[in-house]
Amino acid sequence: MVIVACTPDSEGLGRRLAENLQARRVAVESRAFPDGESYLRFADVLENQDLVVVHSCFPQQDKRLMELLFMLDAAKELGAKRTIAVVPYLAYARQDRRFRPGEVVSNTSVGKLLGAVGTDTLLTVDVHKEESLKAFKIRTINVSAMPLLAEYLKSLNLFQPYILAPDKGAADHARLVASILGTDYTYFEKHRDRVTGQVVTAGKDVELDGRDAVILDDIISTGTTIANVARIAKSNGARKIIAACTHALLVGNAEETMKRGGVASVIGTDTIPGVVSKISVATAVAGSLRQLM
Ligand code: R5P
Repeated sequence: MVIVACTPDSEGLGRRLAENLQARRVAVESRAFPDGESYLRFADVLENQDLVVVHSCFPQQDKRLMELLFMLDAAKELGAKRTIAVVPYLAYARQDRRFRPGEVVSNTSVGKLLGAVGTDTLLTVDVHKEESLKAFKIRTINVSAMPLLAEYLKSLNLFQPYILAPDKGAADHARLVASILGTDYTYFEKHRDRVTGQVVTAGKDVELDGRDAVILDDIISTGTTIANVARIAKSNGARKIIAACTHALLVGNAEETMKRGGVASVIGTDTIPGVVSKISVATAVAGSLRQLM
């Protein structure tokens, strides 16, 4: 028997996932002590169960990551047979190597910590780079939300949509979505200054005259990457510009930044709950989990 535990933070996706798997749901009571430390309690018996813990690690990442580790650790102590961590947004995945001498490689540390608390499997969605999961010594699964995003985009009846990847890393996503939509895609050259964090996108001639443009990425954080491409798309004659991603972090003024760049609307998934999270990854995650059972 598999049971699904989810904290209030990941309630929506956890509920949809449990429904999809026709699995029992275990509530996790969660509150903060006066000094900010997290208190967590499984409201049911876990003994001899395969336990799926759904807990996305969006900001505040450190707090959510600690909560995840606490739950996975306690679950084993409480007798769970197997623990499967469903972490739709995996924090720190972008720091997957030492870009500058002396840097910490947070992704590797996260992998070690998950292993240390006896996690049997980690399932995530559109991790920044699939290879980064090789640093984990536990079983990992990366689920793609791109087919779901493509289906949603189809329903918008866009005019001759052109899929634009803001950097090489997103090119595979763009290729996949474009193939489902039966349309064109291209990618841009992006440079991020490793010291200042400044992002520069090289201009490119793309024949967008009167066509709708979809800028597609795994993550939208400050919105700068998307806004840069939106400006180039506009100067190339794009009609409507839409930003689509799996993980809509939308930090600070991200939406305003993209709007100023010419983006008409933003679409994300429920790996991070929010107003733009219009697509649920529950079916795709449930499909992968079923193969484990
Ligand atoms: C990094 O390469 C990611 O794929 C995204 O492009 C990046 O995280 C977006 O960041 P921002 O929205 O701050 O430009």
